[in-house]
Formats: sequence, structure tokens, C-alpha cells
Amino acid sequence: MELKERIEALEKELKELTKVPAGGGESFRIAYSGKKGHLKGLYEELKSVPNEMKKEVGQSINSLRMLVEEKISSWSTIDAAESTSTKDLTRPGSGPELGSLHPITLVKEEIVDIFSRIGFTLSEGPEIEDDWHNFSALNFPPEHPARDMQDTFFVDEDHALRTHTSSVQVRVMEGTKPPIRTISPGRVFRNEAISSRSHCMFHQIEGLYIDKGVSFADLKQTLLYFAKEFFGEKADIRLRPSYFPFTEPSAEVDVYWGLETETDHRITKGTGWLEIMGCGMVDPQVLENCNIDSGIYTGFAFGMGIERIAMLRYQVPDIRMFFENDMRFLSQFKTF
Ligand code: PHE
Repeated sequence: MELKERIEALEKELKELTKVPAGGGESFRIAYSGKKGHLKGLYEELKSVPNEMKKEVGQSINSLRMLVEEKISSWSTIDAAESTSTKDLTRPGSGPELGSLHPITLVKEEIVDIFSRIGFTLSEGPEIEDDWHNFSALNFPPEHPARDMQDTFFVDEDHALRTHTSSVQVRVMEGTKPPIRTISPGRVFRNEAISSRSHCMFHQIEGLYIDKGVSFADLKQTLLYFAKEFFGEKADIRLRPSYFPFTEPSAEVDVYWGLETETDHRITKGTGWLEIMGCGMVDPQVLENCNIDSGIYTGFAFGMGIERIAMLRYQVPDIRMFFENDMRFLSQFKTF
């Protein structure tokens, strides 16, 4: 058979091949484009074709080659599909990988939930706060050290990144008539040296309760309820006298956690007790600053650091781990 005719015959054969040939795609590939395959032989023969016909014959071999390549690539996808179909179709699928909530979010939601069960509503305020809401309304005198450049990130003369969530108390009191029972989670910022125990950015949850006849005993009982709900029935709290410009009397609250692990020792400085919040009776002057009649109403407030509580709950030895976004750390908090 003439070379041209053989090329045409192969072309016809190829066009008629619509399924993977009996021997499978691989044997087809070897027969056509393997080292000893049809194409190789045709290109060899091309060398002895008279010059005036080389172009024409060469082109028809090239188009044959393209046809072969097309077939091979279409069959390789069929091959792949067929090889999957031989697998166990009853096996459960692997499904898309799900993310997880951040440990700070998990703890925040749990705390908000515990207080919502005793009637506290959720409220939030801005992270860039003015002097009035962060300091002045809360009785910080103009020369108070907390306003110092050392502690506060100022944005301009009158604005700063809020240093605590107590600013939200002021906003709620200004905008709501008592009774008020609210809980305000959020991010706060302080110009502090970063270490394993403290950070320049962290989270707090503020609680505020204003009504007629609210007493310090109500405050203690509310905090004990929280500690037992969150840490378990065995949890205990102790209050130590303290000072905040916006509460009187004021206290710091420690929770007894125990000294079972190395992390317990480290974060409680070997005492088993960990300070988790500040609290107190809202200073009458603060009520007046927010247009609430301090002759009729009293109330309590508390503010706790979420990171500290999350460190206890999950035995996290270093506060910086919360903000490094290391997947090996974060993926341990999968809840679904
Ligand atoms: N705002 C205080 C702090 O950041 C905590 C606090 C809140 C104290 C409410 C008393 C009442 O340390």
C-alpha cells in the first residue's frame, strides 16, 4: 500500500474508534505513539518521500498524530472515571473540611449564654471610644494614670482604643431606663508589654445590673452562680477589696481552680487562685453622669477577661497562642 493510502486508512480507523479499544487506552497509546508505533514508522518513512511531496505527506502525518493525541487524552479521563467506579461506592464520602470557632468565641458564647439564662441581654459598643465613655463618665479624673500614654492607645485628642468594656455600661445607661440587666463582650486594648500572661489586645465581658434595691449580696450571688455554671459545682470564688474609679465598694474576684497541672501552677502563680474579674457597686456619681437617679436606683457591674478564662478552660499556657492563628492550635477546638 502506498504511504498516503496507509495514512488515510489509519485515519479512517481512528475516526471510527469511539470507545476505548479492547486492550485498553494504554495498549492503544503504545500501538500508535509508542517507540515502535505507527506514527514513529510513518515519520521514518517520510524521510524517503520525494521532496516535492514531503510537505503534503508530512502534514497528513501531523494531523494523524493530533487525532491520536486527542483520543488518548479523552480516554484517560474515561479511564480515571472507570477506575473510581471499581472502588467501594458504599463508603461514606469524605465531605468538605469544616472550620472551627475560635476558642475565645467559644468561651464568650458560653459566658453570654450563662448570663442570658438569668435575664441579661446582649449589648455592644465601639472599639474606638471617646474620652467621655471610656474615662470621664466613669469618674476617671483628668490626671488619672490610666489615661497615660503608657496604658492607652490614643487615636486623637478625644478618642482612644477602648481600654475596657466599661465604656459600654455608660452607653447602655445613657440610652435605657432601668431596670437594666446587660452583658457586653468585646475587644479591648492596652499599651502593655506582651508576655505569656498579658497582651496589648484582649477580650472582656462586662456585666451591668441596675434596679431598685440591688445590693452587694446580689453581686456576690450572681458571680458565684456564674463560677459554678462555668467551672462546675465545686468552683469557689473569693472577693478581695480593690479600687475602681467607677464602683464603690470595689472588689477583685478570684476563682479557685486548683493546682493539678503545670499550666495551673503557671497561670495561678502557684496559688491555685486566679483573678478573673473586677467588680463593684456602680458609683452613684456614674449613675448621675448617665442621667439615672441615684436616689432611686442602685446597681452592680463586673468586667472579666475572656483570655484568662479560656486559658484555664483549655489549659493554654501562653496568651499569645490565641492571636497567632496557628492552624495546629486552632484546629483543636473543633466542636462539630
Ligand atoms: N473595667 C475594669 C477593668 O478593666 C473591670 C471592672 C468592670 C471593674 C466593672 C468593676 C466593674 O479592669
